[in-house]
Amino acid sequence: MRFTVAIDGPAAAGKGTISRKVAEHFGFAHLDTGLIYRATGARVLDGQDPLKAAAFLRAEDLDRDDLRTPEVADAASRIAAVPEVRDALINFQRDFAGRDGGAVLDGRDIGTVICPDADVKLFVTASPEIRAERRYQELSAKGLDVTRDGVLEDVNARDARDAARAAAPMKAAEDAVMIDTSELSIDDAVAAAIKQIEAVRNKTT
Ligand code: CDP
Repeated sequence: MRFTVAIDGPAAAGKGTISRKVAEHFGFAHLDTGLIYRATGARVLDGQDPLKAAAFLRAEDLDRDDLRTPEVADAASRIAAVPEVRDALINFQRDFAGRDGGAVLDGRDIGTVICPDADVKLFVTASPEIRAERRYQELSAKGLDVTRDGVLEDVNARDARDAARAAAPMKAAEDAVMIDTSELSIDDAVAAAIKQIEAVRNKTT
């Protein structure tokens, strides 16, 4: 059985947590596509050429423990604007989406470019202040030296770059369902996503 769920949205909107929990709930596989861009960005910070870094990305690159830092997020968003870098990463994502047993992919262009025929498309968002506050809590809990203002600036700069780029810009697909998590707990946001997926599954099975 193939069943693809595309979850897109701006930085720190809660896509990762929702995707993981939704995948667990339905027994689907989950791919955090941001991690692929972060791993490529991290290799570029190490001094590699962006195209080579994307083309020769290895599974172990996704296990680096510096991928969640603001520096790597920034590098990811810069190389993500390069069309050839995105092209090099498409097949891996599409193969993953088409695997048997169902798949959830989260990112920026899943519903628009990677899986335009996804069975369910969600666009998860929240106000910039709330997203920045959540990311600030997450990073400071990891012991990173960050400030609230700095994180808000980073999140805003990354969103602006991701939305303005010509290649696969971050945007909601026309047929995506919006989930604003500003006022929702994690459990409520996950429940809202599950409800949308159930509605489609009940129609198709
Ligand atoms: O976790 P957060 O939402 O902050 O970011 P992420 O999903 O890990 O993505 C990091 C960066 O990778 C984003 O700012 C985008 O520039 C890029 N990205 C992308 O261009 N396309 C995707 N499908 C996923 C991430």
